[in-house]
This record gives sequence, structure tokens and C-alpha cells, in this order.
Amino acid sequence: VEQALSSGPLKGRRVLVTSGPTHEPIDPVRYIANRSSGAQGTAVARALAALGAHVVFVTGPADVPPPDGVEVVAVQTAQEMEEAVEASLPVDAAVFAAAVADWRVSSASDRKLKKTKDGLPELEFAENPDILHGVSQMKSGRPALVVGFAAETNDVIDNATAKRLRKGCDWIVANDVSPETGIMGGSENAVILIDKNGADAWPRMGKDEVARELAARIAAEITT
Ligand code: CTP
Ligand code: CA
Repeated sequence: VEQALSSGPLKGRRVLVTSGPTHEPIDPVRYIANRSSGAQGTAVARALAALGAHVVFVTGPADVPPPDGVEVVAVQTAQEMEEAVEASLPVDAAVFAAAVADWRVSSASDRKLKKTKDGLPELEFAENPDILHGVSQMKSGRPALVVGFAAETNDVIDNATAKRLRKGCDWIVANDVSPETGIMGGSENAVILIDKNGADAWPRMGKDEVARELAARIAAEITT
């Protein structure tokens, strides 16, 4: 790690990676969340650090431990993730691999909800900030390269291409997470990299290999 940090094409560059799920509390013992192991985001952070970048790794409660050699900022909720992302700026590149919960429970209780004979609890929701959208649309101090992820279950290229335009990010790393692919929670990934020129489908490979390939392309993009 010492070796990797002291040299490499991304030496002197600062890169942000978000990773993992967010947990949105319902009460002190319950939460809502997306399914995310954090494996792909963690691998991307590791690969960027191995190329010499200073990586700020903003992570929700993931299944896998953060990599060595990165600056770890651990958060629980989407709002905390947004604050940590804003505090990490400016960066040369930002990779948003987190599976952010789209909604939080606006009626969260500071006491444990109890079963009663009066019926079921009623939860009210509020929409969480779209962190990728906010950074992509920055008027000044925007990272030179903003990369989003899109986990889709159908019409992957169409959905991810529309998502790239809606968010305003430069690249989208799209993947098919329908159950029959076995990608969710597995060690492999099959991604399609979408940029302004179109879609590039990569062969199925290990999440670590996907991360190394993506890190190499990020390095090429921001250093040339
Ligand atoms: N993202 C984010 N903040 C959010 C939601 C998503 O930063 N509140 C980022 C994710 O980290 C990912 C990208 O946006 O890089 C796409 O996330 P996704 O959930 O696919 O996009 P949404 O706009 O929420 O669309 P959908 O309705 O398909 O969930
Ligand atoms: Ca979403």
C-alpha cells in the first residue's frame, strides 16, 4: 500500500468514492435500505488507491470492510452521505457506487414502535437528496469526471442511458441485477459503460477486475 500511495498515474489526485447502502431509520431498532454488499464500490476504491490516488471513501453500512489506504468516512443515512460528499470536495473525479435509499421515513420515531391492538403503524416518507445529481450539476468546482452506477433489472441500456442524461454525469456503469444473473451479492459483475458516445459492454468478470479496468479508464481520462 505504501508503495502504491507514493507513485502511480493518480499520484497527487483526489478521488471520491461512495459505496454501500444507506440505512434510513424507522425507529431505533428498524430501518429501510437497499440491498448492497458494498463489494463493487470497495473494489473501485481499492483500485484507485493502488493507482496512487488519495481516495475519500464515503461508505454506508456495507457487508465488506473498507480497503486499506483510503480515507474512510462512515455514514448511515443518505443525508449524512450527502454531507460527507460535500465535505470531500473538491475532487478530480467522483464515483457514486452507493445504493442510496431513495426515501427516508419522515415520521421516524425516537422510541421503539410497539405492536398494539389499534392497528398497524403508518409510515410517512420523504425523498432523499439525489447526491449524484447534485454533484453532476455543480456550476463551479465540479469534478472533472463524474461517474454514476445504475443497477437495473430490465432494459438496461435504455434505462441507464436515460439516467446518464437525467443526472448529468459523464459516465454510467450499468449492470443487470435481475435475480437470474446472480450478480447481486456475488463476486462477479457484467457491466456496460455508457458515455456520451454510447454503450460499451464488458465481458463478465470479477468485481475486482471490473474495478481495475474502471480505475485505469478514470486515470486515462483525468490525466490526459
Ligand atoms: N444516487 C445518489 N443519490 C441518490 C440516489 C442515487 O447519489 N439519492 C446515485 C447512485 O449512487 C448511483 C446513481 O445515482 O450512482 C443511480 O442510482 P439509481 O438508484 O439507479 O438512480 P435513481 O435516480 O434513484 O433511479 P431509480 O428510480 O431507478 O432508483
Ligand atoms: Ca434509486
